[in-house]
Amino acid sequence: MPAPLNVIVSTLEVNSPDSAQSASEEPDFGESSSSNRNDTPSSSDTEHTDPSRFEYEPSVCSVTSSIREELLMNVHGRLVNNHSDVYHLPADDEEISRLDHQHVMVKALVQNNYVGPVKEVLAMEDGVQKSILDLGCGTGLWAYEMAVEFPHCEIVGVDLAPVQDSSSERTGLPNCRIEVDDINLGLEHFYGCFDMVHARFITSGIKDYYGLVDHISKILRPGGLFLSMEAEFAVYDKDKNYLLSYEHGHPRHSWAADYCHSLGKAMRMRMGHIDATQLLEGWLGDHHAFEEVEKRDIWVPCGPWCPPNSRHADHLNFVGKLMQQDVLSLISAGRPLLLGAGMKDVDVDALMRNAGEEISEIKQTNYFRIQCVWARKSKDIPVSAPPVLA
Ligand SMILES: C[S@@+](CC[C@H](N)C(=O)[O-])C[C@H]1O[C@@H](n2cnc3c(N)ncnc32)[C@H](O)[C@@H]1O
Repeated sequence: MPAPLNVIVSTLEVNSPDSAQSASEEPDFGESSSSNRNDTPSSSDTEHTDPSRFEYEPSVCSVTSSIREELLMNVHGRLVNNHSDVYHLPADDEEISRLDHQHVMVKALVQNNYVGPVKEVLAMEDGVQKSILDLGCGTGLWAYEMAVEFPHCEIVGVDLAPVQDSSSERTGLPNCRIEVDDINLGLEHFYGCFDMVHARFITSGIKDYYGLVDHISKILRPGGLFLSMEAEFAVYDKDKNYLLSYEHGHPRHSWAADYCHSLGKAMRMRMGHIDATQLLEGWLGDHHAFEEVEKRDIWVPCGPWCPPNSRHADHLNFVGKLMQQDVLSLISAGRPLLLGAGMKDVDVDALMRNAGEEISEIKQTNYFRIQCVWARKSKDIPVSAPPVLA
């Protein structure tokens, strides 16, 4: 699949072909340790009424399919990015399809692409170029849809892997572009450039999420909005009680819970900051630059297990079916991570098979939880300027 023309490689080093093994109220669901490129960014009270403020510097070239190959490597049969030691979920066609379906599911749950005061923050203002940064944008579908809904806004997506759709429909928008870059390398070049920062399901690729929060406080203009949506690597029972990883044979044992526990452990071994999901609200509340912190839990049924006796149940079952497919795909996507964490092939395959059967056959009625947290940057904090490039 050729990469879209408006995907640009930022400051990532592309590995040499030798080192790259190229390969080919919710609708009632229950209701910095970054190794920075630039150390000390300067601050100033810059106005953001000048559209040229959007022309910061990071792009160096267009992605070609050969660069795409150099950015990915074959790990246990799946294509994974080859330049982050942290993020190890695949970036292949199967994963692209999972992420696009997951986007449809989240949108069906939230009945929108966002929660919080997004419309207010992005409202048109004379002489002001509004802009959105989507961190870990994946296939770019959220960024694309936001570019359509807010045509007066500029949208920039950043991702480790050039996995964005190459169809002209998604790439033809003049107000949307994707950059290939590693968030863990620092984001100073974006300081003072955005009215909204969005980050969804990225904790497993972030080494220091608290450091990221601090970067975001400087990326945002005064009054800007940070919106995060993160899922836990954990399973809840039908009463929304957390399911521990019980021993096999225990009445509360769940293979899906075992799988999530193992996957979370493997992500932590790679320094993925997945515990940020529970900590984010507190961090934002404590951070001097943020105010109006809000949180909403979204409970996602896994599988169409609701008795189909109402429109509401039909909706839950629609979402549940999408979630079931998503979890089944995630079970297979996690194989390189589990093997990389030192689990034996035979154990990984048994865990995947049992967890897959439990989810497919709805042997347990489970929920997963997505936590949405958002906060505004105080209007009293001045714009942080990007560092001056030598
Ligand atoms: C589970 S996907 C979610 C994609 C998208 N946010 C969505 O909701 O559809 C996580 C994405 O974050 C990207 N990612 C993870 N760590 C990253 C990092 N350090 N820098 C840039 N992108 C990263 C991955 O490449 C992947 O595309």
